[in-house]
Amino acid sequence: MQTRANHAQTFRHTPNSVKPLNEAKIAALLDQEWARYKETTSKSGIEHDAAKRVLPLGATSSFQHWDPYPLSIVSAQGAWMTDVDGRQLLDLSMGFGAMLAGHLNPDVVRELQTSLEIGTLFVTPSPISTDAAERICKRFGLDLVRFTNSGTEATMYAVRTARAYSGRNGIVKIEGGYHGSYDPLMVSSKPAIAEAGDEHLPNSVTPYGAVPGEVWVAPYNDAEAIEEIFKKHKSEIACLIMEPVLENIGIVLPDSGYLERVRELCTEYDIVLIFDEVKTGLTAGPQGASERLGVNPDLICLAKSIGGGIPLAAFGGDLRFMQTVVDGRMAHFGTFNGNPLAMAGVRAIDKICTPEALAKAENWNDQALLRITDVINEFELPAHTVGFGVKGCITWSANPVRNYRDYKSTNFQVAELSWLWSINRGIITPPGLDEQWLISLAHGQREIDILVEDFTSLAKSLRA
Ligand SMILES: Cc1ncc(COP(=O)(O)O)c(C=O)c1O
Repeated sequence: MQTRANHAQTFRHTPNSVKPLNEAKIAALLDQEWARYKETTSKSGIEHDAAKRVLPLGATSSFQHWDPYPLSIVSAQGAWMTDVDGRQLLDLSMGFGAMLAGHLNPDVVRELQTSLEIGTLFVTPSPISTDAAERICKRFGLDLVRFTNSGTEATMYAVRTARAYSGRNGIVKIEGGYHGSYDPLMVSSKPAIAEAGDEHLPNSVTPYGAVPGEVWVAPYNDAEAIEEIFKKHKSEIACLIMEPVLENIGIVLPDSGYLERVRELCTEYDIVLIFDEVKTGLTAGPQGASERLGVNPDLICLAKSIGGGIPLAAFGGDLRFMQTVVDGRMAHFGTFNGNPLAMAGVRAIDKICTPEALAKAENWNDQALLRITDVINEFELPAHTVGFGVKGCITWSANPVRNYRDYKSTNFQVAELSWLWSINRGIITPPGLDEQWLISLAHGQREIDILVEDFTSLAKSLRA
């Protein structure tokens, strides 16, 4: 049992005592729930057949797909979505965090409408992009920022900025860390254990089709591994890129002192530290995870939560790094960068996401996490709760998950059941078993009660 304490600004409760789950029962419940899924979502199945004819997997991103077919949604409002079968679904996915303010938040809609009245695209500087950049720089403590259209672009350009600054090309990343689809950052984002090699010094596993260059991989929460890589390859490494809190394999929290040590090492070895806050960002707190956790990266990548649901991302940091964009060592172009609609999204979110508004959502999240922890204890389930800011998840292992290898040894069968159980009872969490819920500004007591009661009904069935 791992006893290292998680960072004080994060939430994790492991169970007081556990009893094993009955695997045959889980399998039977899964059969029952898949049958129920097909019975109650037939129109989504029909939609999927039509979509498949023109879209690979019938979806616009492979993340959106699951077998036999995903739910097809027609509209969303506040914390709720409506599917093609007319079912009302509580949305706990909230656009992977991009819908932090809630679907069709009136303030966001108003700003977007105002922006459409002035034009859709200028491809030239505008007061609206200066305003958005000022807001982001002020909030996140950056000297300079550049906007992009997706998190993938933001992480790619941050890496290139580090390369231009350092004159080196190599990258260090965390095993199990997802940063979008730029070739080097796809290395070891979800490697097969058979290929992943040593736990302490993992192999760099390149997915088919990616041409990554030099990438070294370290386990999360293992600063010694980072130091070993730095010592050996210092002259080749431009940057270390990481999510400060891993949010693509559930939620994996930093041990107390880990991020501080990583910061020290990057400074000591003169390696640029990039925090990918595409998922954390405002969901971690009003100034993001870096501020909340008290560790300053050299460059930061933002997306999702900062744009009110409009395609938008950003990378930025201290002048000495961003100077490479000014002097042309790092070329950053893009037709849609900083378009008025995206900038209006930034303005709206910056106005709405006050410390008070985010604290209120976080209180709801804490309530959900504490009540679910009680259910886990009551039914002695081999599971635990993890939370950061307005996000939370249930991880199906009795012990804390501190890195990718721990995550891979959690119980994926019961995780699938837990997800499907919710889908069948009108709660939509993200597809895949590696995401977390998001309590947006549009969620409240009713939604928290639904989440907790749904989990309680699953716990009862598992122990029936
Ligand atoms: C941590 C992280 N970085 C980068 C990305 C890529 O962002 P996008 O999907 O906008 O390209 C994601 C997407 O989920 C992410 O979770």
